Amino acid sequence: MSDPERHPFLHGLSKHRGAPPTVVVIFGASGDLTARKLVPAIYNLALDGLLPADFYLIGFGRKPIPDAEFQQVAADAVREFSRRELQDDVWSRLAPRTLYVSGGYDEAAAFQQLAERIEGIEKEIGQEMQTLFYISTPPSVFAPISENLGASGLARRHVGRPQQSKVIIEKPFGKDLASAQALNRTIASVFAESQVFRIDHYLGKETVQDLLVQRFANAIFEPLWNRNFVDHVQITVAEEVGVGTRAGYYEGSGALRDMIQNHTMQLLALTAMEPPVSLDAESIRNEKVKLLQAIQPLRLEAAAGDVARAQYAEGLLGGNPVAGYMQEDGVDAKSSTETFAALRLNINNWRWHGVPFYLRSGKRMARRVTEIAIRFKRAPGNIFAESERIQLAANTLAFQIQPDEGMSLILNAKIPGLETRTQPVKMNFKYATTFGSNTPEAYERLVLDAMIGDSTLFIRGDETERSWQLVTPILEHWRTQGRTGLDTYSAGSWGPKSADALLDANGHSWREP
Ligand code: NDP
Ligand code: BG6
Repeated sequence: MSDPERHPFLHGLSKHRGAPPTVVVIFGASGDLTARKLVPAIYNLALDGLLPADFYLIGFGRKPIPDAEFQQVAADAVREFSRRELQDDVWSRLAPRTLYVSGGYDEAAAFQQLAERIEGIEKEIGQEMQTLFYISTPPSVFAPISENLGASGLARRHVGRPQQSKVIIEKPFGKDLASAQALNRTIASVFAESQVFRIDHYLGKETVQDLLVQRFANAIFEPLWNRNFVDHVQITVAEEVGVGTRAGYYEGSGALRDMIQNHTMQLLALTAMEPPVSLDAESIRNEKVKLLQAIQPLRLEAAAGDVARAQYAEGLLGGNPVAGYMQEDGVDAKSSTETFAALRLNINNWRWHGVPFYLRSGKRMARRVTEIAIRFKRAPGNIFAESERIQLAANTLAFQIQPDEGMSLILNAKIPGLETRTQPVKMNFKYATTFGSNTPEAYERLVLDAMIGDSTLFIRGDETERSWQLVTPILEHWRTQGRTGLDTYSAGSWGPKSADALLDANGHSWREP
């Protein structure tokens, strides 16, 4: 099944071939994430020959579902959501090893039944198996599942050996600092940190990993990567989609919890951290935590503060009218949930002292785009113009995380002709042009990494707490303010005026990516 042409990871993928025989157990297997991402990820790993020879998938949920029905649901999910078509020869090997166990997430007997099913598989194939638990339920049951994994002994199967149990935990990991700490305590009472894989799917994205390669495999960037040369940094995570059918979840969350605390902060940490001593998980995560620790507490006052929040109002997207957030199904008539958030951060260390970092994320924005833009200081003066007032463009290095993955660099160039006139030009590198466009989904990489016990692309307990520590005062402030200070922006725009004001104060403006 393995074909180096089909899978860009396959070159140099030796570590990914080392997974022991594995049973992946998905809690919440009847859910949206399982169908859209997890089952297709497992199928694509099978297609590339990257699953261990002895591999089983067990779905777990409250409703009784026969194995055959789950196999059918899983096949349908692959047909609908996989990046590559379902091939009968691959599926016919995976399907008989796709099983279902039903029961309550807080029901000890159900976990006993699950344990018996796993032991039955081990007896059948005559080998000890690693169990990788994937908690893909709403967060209200993260803790009961962890506790039952502890009480049933499932968490401690084959401890100290490569087959030792592991657990992947979905987001949101808590809703503020206190709840994240409580969840970390529950998990730590059951699992060792080395068994725990807190997921942030942005870390599994190809271009996010490329950020590390660009920074640390190219010697030209490091000398410039500091306050002497960088004017400011902008990180944008913009979505075109609105809240859709997810108001039930989103009303209790908002952009700060849903996108900034996790995905955007991770992009910031990877961009700004010090070079790690090696690429092992702890070295990278140590550097990320140090960076998060260096961020100064934010000023929250309405005027001259470091934060902005807003809700989308009705507007036009792609020429079509779309509803405002307050008109969406399931949104409270007095909702103060922000669908956009922006922060102005200062990082108090030698490298970044005095360099503002601007972060923004919102739904229903003009275009789906995630990018990190490093804006360099301008060349001193302008010897190419008669007036000092005519400025050369600032060099900007932009990492386009999605879509249209790649990198660009804005430089000043001479316009051909007898006069010496300059114009900003863009040097572009496009992933799709160089490497083709069928790159693996984030969840493929992350499930595979967890299976071999590599936690580099997962969040450590202290990392998530540090990030919550930063955003929790903002959440508390906004809660006391209600709708006061909540700005609006038209759907299909680049966000509210209050976000522009965060940059105006420093003479900066947001890029239109
Ligand atoms: P769902 O709401 O679809 O729930 C998953 C399953 O959990 C359900 O099918 C149901 O299974 C069970 N469940 C639902 N509600 C409850 C409840 N109140 N108590 C106990 N069990 C419940 O979630 P998703 O699949 O969308 O997401 C799963 C996790 O992944 C969540 O933590 C989410 O935040 C996260 N996530 C999801 C993304 C997505 O795109 N969907 C993206 C990023 C993260 P059953 O009834 O069979 O027990
Ligand atoms: C999820 C958020 O974590 O990330 C969603 O809960 C958001 O609200 C999604 O839409 C965005 O992910 P991606 O990979 O589409 O950028």
